[in-house]
Amino acid sequence: MEYRSIAIDGPSGAGKSTLAKRLAQELGFLYVDTGAIYRTVGLAARRRGVDPADEKSVAAMLPGLSIIMGYGEDGLQRMFLDGEDVTSAIRENEISACASKAAALPAVRDFLLEMQRKTAREHDVIMDGRDIGTVVLPQADVKLFLTASPEARAERRYKELLERGQRADFDQVLREVVERDRRDTQRETAPLRRAEDAVLADTTGLDLEGSFQLLLGIIRERLNIREGTYEK
Ligand code: DC
Repeated sequence: MEYRSIAIDGPSGAGKSTLAKRLAQELGFLYVDTGAIYRTVGLAARRRGVDPADEKSVAAMLPGLSIIMGYGEDGLQRMFLDGEDVTSAIRENEISACASKAAALPAVRDFLLEMQRKTAREHDVIMDGRDIGTVVLPQADVKLFLTASPEARAERRYKELLERGQRADFDQVLREVVERDRRDTQRETAPLRRAEDAVLADTTGLDLEGSFQLLLGIIRERLNIREGTYEK
């Protein structure tokens, strides 16, 4: 049986994970958050005192790591580092920068590529990241490029941090968003860019429901899925 895949790429804070999670539930696909995998490498570097931007040290660390992606009873993805559930730990604000630096290294990208492809070979997936439509799953059935203005994305990130009880300063969050965009789009290996055949969706002026309906419509049309049914 051949499985279907939906690739969602775009900068951080565009709503990829929230939307992909809901879409996966609606369609009965497995949701794969690839950013969580890079975050796990970022966390590992941090914990071992390794500079996440130093390719030699990071490459030396990789073979000794156990990174496992699992799914809880709630169907949601969980990340394990050396046997420990780090699903919450990888969301700490300081891990974002470590993940972004580590993600720029070819050694890290090569190390994680097969894990992502294998998951897509074994399930119907909706996978979000930066290079899913361009590198990881160039044959994806549907490719979406989701974006929003830096200010709108910083605003969402800021609210999310406050809701989690973390302290946050909007200007700093905006600076971090801009800096991370720069690193993610200008790196040499697998930079964030829209695949030529990806549908562009800008959510700047849309709320979550509006964005969800927009994407669901595109996916249903491309996969030829009618409401409530799933036809191949
Ligand atoms: O989506 P996120 O913010 O959790 O991702 C964390 C970092 O990992 C982000 O800086 C970009 C990087 N990343 C990547 O380079 N490729 C992916 N497929 C997913 C994330």
